[in-house]
Amino acid sequence: MTAPQKSAGTVASVMTEDRKFPPPAEFSARARIGSLEDYQRLYDAAAADPEGFWGERAAALPWTKPYDRVLDWNPPEVQWFPGGRLNASAACLDRHVAAGRGGKTALVWVGEPTGERREYTYAQLHAEVCRVAAGLKALGIKSGEVVSIYMPMTPELVIAMLACARIGAVHSVIFGGFSSEAIADRNQDAGAVAVITADGGWRRGTQLPLKKNVDVAVARSPSVKHVVVLKRTGQPVEMVAGRDVWWHDLIEGMPSDMPPEPMDSEAPLFILYTSGSTGKPKGIKHTTAGYILWAQTTAEWVFDLRDDDLFWCTADCGWITGHSYITYGPLAAGASLLIYEGAPNAPHEGRFWEIIEEEKPTIFYTAPTAIRSFMKWGMQHIEGRDLSSLRLLGTVGEGINPEAWMWYHEVIGGKRCPIVDTWWQTETGGIMMSPLPGCTPTKPGSCTLPLPGVVPEIVDAAGHPVARGDGGWLVLTKPWPGMLRGIWGDDQRCRETYWSRVPGKYLAGDNARQDSDGYFWIMGRIDDVLNVAGHRLSTIEIESALVSHPSVAEAAAVGRPHDVKGEAVAVFVTLHKSAEASDALKEALRKHVRQQIGALAVPDDIHFAAILPKTRSGKIMRRLLRDVAAGRETVGDTTTLEDYTVLATLRGNDE
Ligand code: WTA
Repeated sequence: MTAPQKSAGTVASVMTEDRKFPPPAEFSARARIGSLEDYQRLYDAAAADPEGFWGERAAALPWTKPYDRVLDWNPPEVQWFPGGRLNASAACLDRHVAAGRGGKTALVWVGEPTGERREYTYAQLHAEVCRVAAGLKALGIKSGEVVSIYMPMTPELVIAMLACARIGAVHSVIFGGFSSEAIADRNQDAGAVAVITADGGWRRGTQLPLKKNVDVAVARSPSVKHVVVLKRTGQPVEMVAGRDVWWHDLIEGMPSDMPPEPMDSEAPLFILYTSGSTGKPKGIKHTTAGYILWAQTTAEWVFDLRDDDLFWCTADCGWITGHSYITYGPLAAGASLLIYEGAPNAPHEGRFWEIIEEEKPTIFYTAPTAIRSFMKWGMQHIEGRDLSSLRLLGTVGEGINPEAWMWYHEVIGGKRCPIVDTWWQTETGGIMMSPLPGCTPTKPGSCTLPLPGVVPEIVDAAGHPVARGDGGWLVLTKPWPGMLRGIWGDDQRCRETYWSRVPGKYLAGDNARQDSDGYFWIMGRIDDVLNVAGHRLSTIEIESALVSHPSVAEAAAVGRPHDVKGEAVAVFVTLHKSAEASDALKEALRKHVRQQIGALAVPDDIHFAAILPKTRSGKIMRRLLRDVAAGRETVGDTTTLEDYTVLATLRGNDE
């Protein structure tokens, strides 16, 4: 690490990291892409003739009707493979079974309660998906209708997603940690006709009340006609006659082979809600052919998937990582997957290493926040564990601090495993920048280079490229097959958010810089989006939740650095005259946010304030609050501050 670096761009960079790790020779020798020359050849081919490049790769997809053209691009309107038809579940299952690989392990599942384990071959997974698809069809769910999925990380979650895809229904997976309010909002926004859930789920030894949350949500979701309930924990639930059906009853007598619905290349495959910089979550829309091709191709490139690999991605299917690198990418690639239901510290803080010792995954893909927790929990959980099955490690969700990278490299990777630091977003559908493990020398904290087909640029607020080394906005200048196709029901918002600030280019919402080797370093968000434990939260959603409490007049939420979660949520609230600041009120506000959004949005720090710092035009100056929350001196311009005494008062009020 060296001293802060001066920057003439829109953002100052304070980090330089000089260590460089070439891929181990024995890894490169067996890798799909084994040299930088091979990478460059692929990159140049994709840049020179994108249609030829992606057309060639799409040939292996199970088309039921060939496409007319590879690409129609009229920014931001895009169509990949228009005119073609295929089904995403057939791309993940049928084609492998048809090719004689039905006996290969598709999924190994480990439950949170010790000793629970299930395995599915491709043929078995295919049969289960067919049964559920037939059951959903028998309920009357049609192609193009939206189905919400709110389930624990069991194989049935993957099966439910693929069953929806099989009948052409659009799934909207809602993370099992979200509250009933959040489910209701998403059901309403998407017009969901059904919810697939479970009685409960296991989390750190306790049972989550999933069905109960759905009951509350569905009372506020007039479009929902059916609720399908998997029996997971066996906890008592109320079944509403005519609306609710048990999963096991739904599939009773259903055929284990059912033809997939042929879908247009551009038919929506799923919606996934993610936080934006305004209050309402955005339903990011992905479609069929381009998404599947991107998820599969990036999984093969970045994870160097081989026939004998067992790939463990620790994400939950409630996030995009679970969509692209559990359900769709690895299965389309015909890989063997390991999934785990529960928390990494249940029933003990060595659970992940125990699972690695027992199941012997070869590839391990997790989040920096998890790595920081492992570091904190200590070596006693790792020493003596056999982690030698691992050959490749990955990270996703936020930048990884070099200290955590080195620990991951040395302690988990035994210095022999390359680390792929993968930068991407819900909107990009799959990995965009990452080392290729057999060829790209890595630098701790850098996502290194763009994948073939990805053309990033760093620009200033006027849209001009910044000088090499300077920070600026990260944009993507060319279309790629996995790109978002819009925000559900709000094309205008999509255009404004992603395509208008730098016209014709995709604005990722992240700051970045490129070093002298051309490597990319992500520097955090440009908007009011927090990254808490690798999950995106919008400050405005949290503020709206707080303001909906009867005692709160005004609220501002900001992130402050947190050594495990990356960012912690700090909020500043002003109260109505009738309310009194107290610890009991703090507790009540935490509870309120938990009810409104979910546990991950619960503020770590609550500061009561008499007033909030605002500009003369009335905008809350979050930048100043961030300094207060982090206990830093205020730097930068405060001339627009309406009332200078506010800051001093706020500091005096700190918890
Ligand atoms: C951040 C997760 C630095 C970034 C796949 C991005 C990262 C947001 C990285 C998307 C990384 C993700 N290095 N930052 N390797 N990966 N991010 O939609 O700010 O949940 O815009 O997708 O996470 O979060 P999302």
